[in-house]
Amino acid sequence: MRPSALFPLACAIVAFVLSMLCLFAGHKPGFMEEYHILTLNTSTLGHNLIPTTTSSSGSTPTATSIGSLFSSVADNITSTIEGDIGDDINNIIGDVADKLSAELGIKQWYSMHLMDMCEGTYTPNATAKGAHLNVTSCTNETAMYHFNITQQLEKELELGKLHLNLSDIDWPSNIQQDLNDLDIAIDALFVLYCIGIGAAGCAIIAALIAFFLRGSRLISLGNWGLASISFLALLIASIIITVVQIKAVDLINKYGNDIGVYAYKGGKYLALTWAAVALMFLAKMAWVVEFCVGRARRSREYTEKRASGGGWISRRKRSDEAALR
Ligand SMILES: *[C@@H]1O[C@H](CO)[C@@H](O)[C@H](O)[C@H]1NC(C)=O
Ligand SMILES: *[C@@H]1O[C@H](CO)[C@@H](O)[C@H](O)[C@H]1NC(C)=O
Ligand SMILES: *[C@@H]1O[C@H](CO)[C@@H](O)[C@H](O)[C@H]1NC(C)=O
Ligand SMILES: *[C@@H]1O[C@H](CO)[C@@H](O)[C@H](O)[C@H]1NC(C)=O
Ligand SMILES: *[C@@H]1O[C@H](CO)[C@@H](O)[C@H](O)[C@H]1NC(C)=O
Ligand SMILES: *[C@@H]1O[C@H](CO)[C@@H](O)[C@H](O)[C@H]1NC(C)=O
Ligand SMILES: *[C@@H]1O[C@H](CO)[C@@H](O)[C@H](O)[C@H]1NC(C)=O
Repeated sequence: MRPSALFPLACAIVAFVLSMLCLFAGHKPGFMEEYHILTLNTSTLGHNLIPTTTSSSGSTPTATSIGSLFSSVADNITSTIEGDIGDDINNIIGDVADKLSAELGIKQWYSMHLMDMCEGTYTPNATAKGAHLNVTSCTNETAMYHFNITQQLEKELELGKLHLNLSDIDWPSNIQQDLNDLDIAIDALFVLYCIGIGAAGCAIIAALIAFFLRGSRLISLGNWGLASISFLALLIASIIITVVQIKAVDLINKYGNDIGVYAYKGGKYLALTWAAVALMFLAKMAWVVEFCVGRARRSREYTEKRASGGGWISRRKRSDEAALR
């Protein structure tokens, strides 16, 4: 029994669970939705289609640039929204966040997870502070999932009341093009999490062995190796996810803000993955300490034996014989 193995064991178990959650968060509707990699707020997507007739300056530049073809679509949106709310246009602009997406047939938010995408509405409403994410559905989970928001929006717009397509809402194709550049990183993420989880699982078993068998330094070394593999894989994955988050959110906001799409980083996911890294680091360091303590103990026993006389030479002889055999 080696009670000191319990600390790295506990660290490895918690890191194992946390990294599993990184992989599986959001894999089905309502399961840890808050732990997404990023979310898109599409509640005001297409707001530029609605001509503002408020001020003397007339319609906004965006509304005019849409052209006559789209202004008929816009009239349609305006009239349907107006019909639904039964209010004048000035108030509609304020309330648009909560109605527009439903008119277009899309959802108010889309979230990217490691293995799928979820979508839904904000409750109580899209403009409420700290609105809750009410999940409607998620795509089927796949390993190495590629976030294809363009395809999803295209599908939903087509099924919507107004039967629009992406060019009707001025959807910038750059969003998907630039997101696709991140696909390799996302594939790597999946692999790295699998390595991290696998090594953490082995580290748990190895720590149990160290706990029950009176551990040798070799066992400490093996444990250190497994903890290090897991730590490194999770560390690289966490660095990648941090960078991917920043890049994806920046590019979506860069192209999307004009048409009313906003992207937010998933802070809770980052906390989860970095916590797993920190725990695996502690486990790794604990095994370094174990190894050094083991060595100190060994050399103490060794010098004691030598001091007690004779034993060293006969032992050495024995081990030489063993090597010859
Ligand atoms: C306006 O909406 C109606 C259904 O609400 C649809 O039949 C019609 O084609 C739409 N018109 C345009 C120009 O989109
Ligand atoms: C979604 O975006 C709109 C437009 O920027 C904003 O008013 C609203 O507060 C956002 N909703 C949430 C829940 O972040
Ligand atoms: C959204 O919800 C908040 C809080 O419940 C409420 O104060 C606000 O009036 C709502 N806005 C709309 C447009 O319904
Ligand atoms: C989630 O949305 C559905 C309709 O879209 C609604 O019936 C349900 O009450 C909402 N859930 C919460 C917790 O608000
Ligand atoms: C999701 O999986 C179900 C069965 O598990 C299947 O029927 C459905 O077609 C799949 N959907 C997509 C979009 O692949
Ligand atoms: C995303 O969906 C679009 C439209 O269906 C498709 O053309 C494109 O290849 C998809 N991109 C990826 C990376 O899957
Ligand atoms: C989108 O719809 C408009 C008509 O509403 C059409 O002129 C245009 O070709 C469509 N674009 C695509 C890519 O299908």
